Amino acid sequence: MVSEAAVTRVRNPQAITAKLLAWYDENRRDLPWRRTHDPYTIWVAEVMLQQTQVTTVIPYYERFLQRFPTVEALARANLDDVLALWQGLGYYARARNLHEAAKIVLQKHRGQLPQERATLKSLPGIGPYTSAALASIAFGQNVPAIDANVVRVLCRLFDYADDPRKAAGKRALRRYAEALLPQGRAGDYNQAMMELGATICTKAPDCKVCPLSSFCEAYAKGLQAVRPVPRRRQEVPHRLFVSALTEREGRLLIVRRVPEGLLGGLWELPGGPVREGETLQEALRRHLQEELNLQATVGAQLGVVEHAYSHFQLTVQIYEATVKGEPKPQETWDSAHWLDPENRGDFGFTGVTVKILDKAPWAGSDLLL
Ligand code: ADE
Repeated sequence: MVSEAAVTRVRNPQAITAKLLAWYDENRRDLPWRRTHDPYTIWVAEVMLQQTQVTTVIPYYERFLQRFPTVEALARANLDDVLALWQGLGYYARARNLHEAAKIVLQKHRGQLPQERATLKSLPGIGPYTSAALASIAFGQNVPAIDANVVRVLCRLFDYADDPRKAAGKRALRRYAEALLPQGRAGDYNQAMMELGATICTKAPDCKVCPLSSFCEAYAKGLQAVRPVPRRRQEVPHRLFVSALTEREGRLLIVRRVPEGLLGGLWELPGGPVREGETLQEALRRHLQEELNLQATVGAQLGVVEHAYSHFQLTVQIYEATVKGEPKPQETWDSAHWLDPENRGDFGFTGVTVKILDKAPWAGSDLLL
């Protein structure tokens, strides 16, 4: 059992945050609520942004503030007028709560949005996320704000493999976010994380242009597409494997699984499961050393193959490797062979191996299978 503290250990937080903020400074979108320090207008924006995308919000935000430029104007409006301006944004409870909260702020706080997080949270429509966003963006407090975009970024950055919606997941993500939080720039940090989640670290992330890709643990393992884990518990466990394309004089090293056990007697590429805490390269060297008595030099990463077995889902990362000497199979395999591509049809391969061989030749490899 891995302790929660170990799960939330963060390497290099300052470097990650520095990179993120530099990216944000360079790329931040010029959004109307980023041109103001007025807590009321930032509040209106955060409420509108709770369930609605930035581009949709902008015209509503501008119309709303033209009509209700202050807490007092909003508090004194009648609800019908507020709802009319909200027409089309949906989730009308947000408008009702905002209007109700404006009345309370006017009566109890002399028209000034309170700065205390607990007091903010006592207002209708302001929950943990919105209170943290306001505290950091409007009042400069050092608190992390974690919305759905930020959850996605954090789960990928730290390869969080459990459900982030559970209590333990929320605690873990809070610790990650707190470890990254720069004192004095929390508002920018929070908005940078949201911005990254909204523009690059999206459902189908564009990792090639991500400023944090070199730190991203899910990306390093090729797991960004399965982070965060989906809401429903996955029916089958997920396993990460690593395999070697080892070429010598135009032939490819293949190994035969021992007859007992899963996929017994079928041929495959050497490799196997990646243990927690070890890199893909380390895992590959370990398998070749322990199970074939080969010293391997691991080269380029060539690709990734997904395969569904009935009892588990497999992700196989494939690397180029070179080895010295001859393989001596033990434990997992009972035979090794240097395959001439022309004889591929003579061998029975595991399903995932067929997929890998079908994908060859690989970029960067001159294997002609
Ligand atoms: N989503 C929620 N708050 C936001 C903000 N301040 N900027 C951009 N997107 C957001």
